[in-house]
Amino acid sequence: ARITLRQLLDHAAENDYGVPAFNINNMEQALAIMEAASSVDAPVIIQASRGARSYANDVMLKHMMDAVTEIYPQIPVCVHLDHGNEPATCMTAIQAGFTSVMMDGSLKADGKTPGDWDYNVGVTKTVTDMAHLGGISVEGELGVLGSLESGEGEKEDGHGFEGKLSHDQLLTNPDEAVKFVKETQVDALAIAMGTSHGAYKFTRKPDGDILAMNVIEEIHRKLPNTHLVMHGSSSVPQDLQEIINKFGGQMKPTWGVPVSEIQRGIKHGVRKINIDTDNRMAMTGQIRKILSENPSEFDPRKYLKPAMEAMTKLCKQRLQEFNTAGQA
Ligand code: G3H
Ligand code: 13P
Ligand code: NA
Ligand code: ZN
Repeated sequence: ARITLRQLLDHAAENDYGVPAFNINNMEQALAIMEAASSVDAPVIIQASRGARSYANDVMLKHMMDAVTEIYPQIPVCVHLDHGNEPATCMTAIQAGFTSVMMDGSLKADGKTPGDWDYNVGVTKTVTDMAHLGGISVEGELGVLGSLESGEGEKEDGHGFEGKLSHDQLLTNPDEAVKFVKETQVDALAIAMGTSHGAYKFTRKPDGDILAMNVIEEIHRKLPNTHLVMHGSSSVPQDLQEIINKFGGQMKPTWGVPVSEIQRGIKHGVRKINIDTDNRMAMTGQIRKILSENPSEFDPRKYLKPAMEAMTKLCKQRLQEFNTAGQA
């Protein structure tokens, strides 16, 4: 069944668990996620970015979402727009059947320029005013996602401000968060808590305290009814880096967010945990391996099936680690 983000995260809050939000672009990823959720009886969030929508086409996505809820009727699924860049993008997603949208006004519509307070509140409120009329949930974002390390955070998504801003500026201010939620009425709030998007989050192995736990705790205490969202939550597993590099890939050494840190976050109000990079790596590792071990192979199913299985394995692991398993 399709459910909204508000319904799902209210249940997660009542029962002290977190829900991974996995990105999809195609059928294989959608099936891999649902197979994982079904195997452990977990509800799940499937999210699509603007890039996914232009890659797959809204009509394809809409029917894929209908298909997975028909194939797995017992699994509650929230279909969410990841990083909507303007109100129109959110409204067309709702028309395409999404039950939840993110209006990311932390950046202007170009995805690069930071959005100022009035801009962010304005576009976010426009979306909540409309979406809530139709029972659709809304995620907003306050703060600049970036690495607290010197890390070479990926710049192309607009989140690489770490060179210009101080440590504190990279974290969401709890009093501003309260004001933002009061003015916008968002159901969920993405906060900057020390992570960044992509594979290159930290240049050294993190030794605990990756997340600004005090900030998370304070925001959660002041906003107990607003679900906190953690973007950039891939753990960038070393074994997946090794498979990719063993079979011709060239990933630089890198570290992601340890699962134990995410688990601490869940104890303090983090309910939605965004993961894309780990699944990209899981699939790519298998595709590289199969093609390099079987150079005469050209049937896509021969490498897409193992790719799907690797993604299912990763999703299942996260659903267990975040205690989503058993909650369907
Ligand atoms: O935050 C970005 C997500 O990983 C989706 O990436 O915009 O390349 O589809 P994308
Ligand atoms: P990762 O790049 O860490 O997987 O983060 C994905 C994300 O935040 C999507 O919004
Ligand atoms: Na999102
Ligand atoms: Zn994100």
